[in-house]
Amino acid sequence: MRRPLVVTDPGLLGTGAFQALANALGESKKDKDWFLYAGVHPNPVEQDVREAAAHYREYNCDGVIAIGGGSPLDAGKAARLLTKRPDLNLARFYDERDWSSLPPFIAIPTTAGTGSEVGRSSVITLEGTHRKAVLFHPELLAKWVILDPELTIGLPPKLTAATGADALTHCIESFTCPAFHPMCDGIALEGIKLIIENLPVAYKDGKNIDARGKMLVAAAMGAVAFQKDLGVVHSLAHPLSTLCGMHHGLANALCLVAGMNFCASRKPGLYRRIGIACGLDIMKASDAEADQETIAFISEFLSSLGLRARLREHGVQPQQLDALVAQAVDDPCHKTNAVPVTENDLRTLYLQVI
Ligand SMILES: [Fe+2]
Repeated sequence: MRRPLVVTDPGLLGTGAFQALANALGESKKDKDWFLYAGVHPNPVEQDVREAAAHYREYNCDGVIAIGGGSPLDAGKAARLLTKRPDLNLARFYDERDWSSLPPFIAIPTTAGTGSEVGRSSVITLEGTHRKAVLFHPELLAKWVILDPELTIGLPPKLTAATGADALTHCIESFTCPAFHPMCDGIALEGIKLIIENLPVAYKDGKNIDARGKMLVAAAMGAVAFQKDLGVVHSLAHPLSTLCGMHHGLANALCLVAGMNFCASRKPGLYRRIGIACGLDIMKASDAEADQETIAFISEFLSSLGLRARLREHGVQPQQLDALVAQAVDDPCHKTNAVPVTENDLRTLYLQVI
């Protein structure tokens, strides 16, 4: 890259993380040879992707660098689709055959949670339908991913906890989903161990570079693991973001224990190896005891991070239940859950946490 377009959100511009990138690119140069699009919304919309691509063309750029949380990374990733084909209808993304000429992409996460930096997909809300579209293609992958813990030390404790809980949920749900993928399973278990050991440290001492670095790696591992699939907790969480504006990681955290209890009741012993990855001595426990101890451990772990509350304490209204259930049924994640999930199960689960 000689003339990169940097894609981010407005909140990042004042941070040390953005300054570090600007310094590395040569902010003070008179004839700047890098350009900026900083308009990405918290849940990226089609307009963000189109504007970023328009900037790319206008400044004659030759690559994209996205820096920030999952939203700028997803928007920057997808903007490359429109750099040569500005009129492309994103809703018809899957009709296109050839994506081989996308501009190179560098992903720099400033949170340790979504793992979007190592993903092949981008979640964008489309203009026409207001629904989230998942654009998915191996060519969307970043050429480089820079995991620099110094860029995450400014993340406040609440966001550190919530994004870390997203990574933990990725590891737990991908390990327990029934598809055959032992490599993802191994990565998920090691990711859980790293999160259990390091998230509390990063939460209490944001400047601890070792813990921040291990959380960045664990988040990337969670996202690699969930190339296998996810489960019911993500189906409960997605509508809480689209309908109630809740942070994705927080939504997962508030639903995780209920989801685990539900799965364990149908598939005893499901969480034994996760408990062992957490350091519990449950090798010889009965299936029921192993699940119980693991779920109690995760519940206590989330409490210690300030992440065990009811949904209503975060503004969710009981009268939103029907709409939440309707969207959760449509969400694909529960179709790969450890055990089958019905509409009624989703309603019961929401009622347990609302
Ligand atoms: Fe997630």
